[in-house]
Amino acid sequence: MSGFSVDWLDLREPADFAARNKELAAALVNYLQSDADISPIIVDLGSGTGSTLRALTRLGAHRCVWRLVDNDPALLNEALRRHGQAEIVEDYQADLQDIDALPLGGAALLSASALFDLASADLIDALIARLRKQPTVFYAALNYDGRTEWTPTHPLDQAVLDAFNQDQRRNKGMGSALGPDAASYLQTALQSAGYRVEMRASPWLLGCEQQALMEDLIHGIRAAVADGDGLSGAELDDWQAFRLAHVATGHALIGHIDVLAFPALE
Ligand SMILES: C[S@@+](CC[C@H](N)C(=O)[O-])C[C@H]1O[C@@H](n2cnc3c(N)ncnc32)[C@H](O)[C@@H]1O
Repeated sequence: MSGFSVDWLDLREPADFAARNKELAAALVNYLQSDADISPIIVDLGSGTGSTLRALTRLGAHRCVWRLVDNDPALLNEALRRHGQAEIVEDYQADLQDIDALPLGGAALLSASALFDLASADLIDALIARLRKQPTVFYAALNYDGRTEWTPTHPLDQAVLDAFNQDQRRNKGMGSALGPDAASYLQTALQSAGYRVEMRASPWLLGCEQQALMEDLIHGIRAAVADGDGLSGAELDDWQAFRLAHVATGHALIGHIDVLAFPALE
């Protein structure tokens, strides 16, 4: 178990799909479909139940071979159950920290979504170093960028956000997490390795249709900041009660950035 449940991934997937930057996704799908005789191999890191597979297939990526990599066998089994018949899916239960063991050989694309903000700079450096000798495109969608904007506002929103963004940098199992710095770190590291890098905003825009997701998010933020020094339990109770009272009528913007990078060898 990784701590990411099928229910939570299902709850966020519609917001993730709506948020994915469609300009970058279209450029990527064009690249994947550019040769009708080739079935491109896509290695999706931290695949969960296959949300990147579903998103890119829905946007027109067909005839692909999907290598789904995750350390949670329950999520991989769910991905196989959903897609094992209709798509070519290979599942790899592996720890992403063991970069040398990742099944990257022959990959046309390395993809990930909602992953690299959990990862460390060292992991990204090692991954890019491993890709250096192969012409693999790099697509990292939905990297949290540190922005959370609520409507209506509450006086403690900024303090809660500061504490939450601090928590985002904790070690989440892949070294000290980059959190809100993930996309800019990827940009610098990929450019240094000779990639041409495109970045676009991909924010969650949540309203009353995503009430359940907003409620989960509010509980998750409260839990993440509960042990910090800055905010008292009473202040957090007040903030949480206010936020939950407004999910039916309020809005939230959660900032993300998508990254698409083409290697110099292309
Ligand atoms: C936020 S979820 C995103 C899942 C999926 N990409 C999506 O967008 O729905 C992060 C995923 O990374 C996986 N993960 C986290 N740490 C990992 C590690 N060290 N090795 C392999 N997978 C890991 C989790 O099991 C989970 O499926």
